[in-house]
Amino acid sequence: MKPRKVTKAVFPVAGLGTRFLPATKSIPKEIMTLVDRPLIQYAIDEARAAGIKEFIFVTSRGKSALEDYFDHAPELESALRKSGKDDLLEILKDTNMDSGAIAYVRQNRAMGLGHAVWCARRLIGNEPFAVLLPDDVIAAERPCLLQMVEAYEETGGCMVAAMEVSPEKISSYGVLDVGQEGGNVMKVKGMVEKPKAKDAPSNLAVIGRYILTPKVLTNLNRMKQGAGGEIQLTDAIAEETKTKAGVYALRFRGQRYDCGSKIGFLQATVAFGLARPDLCNEFASYLHEVMAMQKAAQ
Ligand code: G1P
Repeated sequence: MKPRKVTKAVFPVAGLGTRFLPATKSIPKEIMTLVDRPLIQYAIDEARAAGIKEFIFVTSRGKSALEDYFDHAPELESALRKSGKDDLLEILKDTNMDSGAIAYVRQNRAMGLGHAVWCARRLIGNEPFAVLLPDDVIAAERPCLLQMVEAYEETGGCMVAAMEVSPEKISSYGVLDVGQEGGNVMKVKGMVEKPKAKDAPSNLAVIGRYILTPKVLTNLNRMKQGAGGEIQLTDAIAEETKTKAGVYALRFRGQRYDCGSKIGFLQATVAFGLARPDLCNEFASYLHEVMAMQKAAQ
């Protein structure tokens, strides 16, 4: 029997974004733009492409710009219509959500990613759901969450996105113990959140895309504190490795950018700028010029 379809996704967006201060003093980090689209738009587009119909945001104070972003903007739309700017009206369509397709729930205390997801439990109900961390932007021919949904249809259970990271970086991630490494879909034996490099079970890190069963919410009910004193999603998923349904990791095809860090954000800006047909020529020759000037100055 095929597992139940995944139609709901949770977007944890309650974080303060302190790594991007002062920019994030008055705008949510998720509204920061790669070229001309906010980070959150990339996550929403990916979720839509994977068949998600209901979008649940876990927010906090100061995040109301996100709610406005996904609402209709009657004045702006009518001004664009009057001036015949149909191309811009078309672009705005991606930002609109049908009434009832998007819901917001507040996490009133910063208690970790597991706690954030748990805050959405009543909206998720008793069905499998996706979690997308908008900081992780993934450029892929086939959207990452779609690759995961396809793999999940074969495996059932929980599924996380995985990629290799260098030993210096491994302690920033949830890390997988996959035993024997096989193809792209691997059975997970264990997971640890932010281990020291010497204790990490592998160099395979969890990237911010998950498909989870409602059992994970039950595990989160216990509110067990983990790494950093926070309630960790990794720990609640790790409990499922011992069950029959199990946990799987997909080594996805695509390039992931850590837009939660300044360097990752800059790298993504360059990559997405170069990928844009309307900008790539001018942008590429500018980058060449800059590199040449830097070389000459050395
Ligand atoms: C979170 C998760 C971690 C995962 C990472 C991926 O950590 O807790 O397991 O590897 O996202 O980006 P954070 O980056 O929020 O500290």
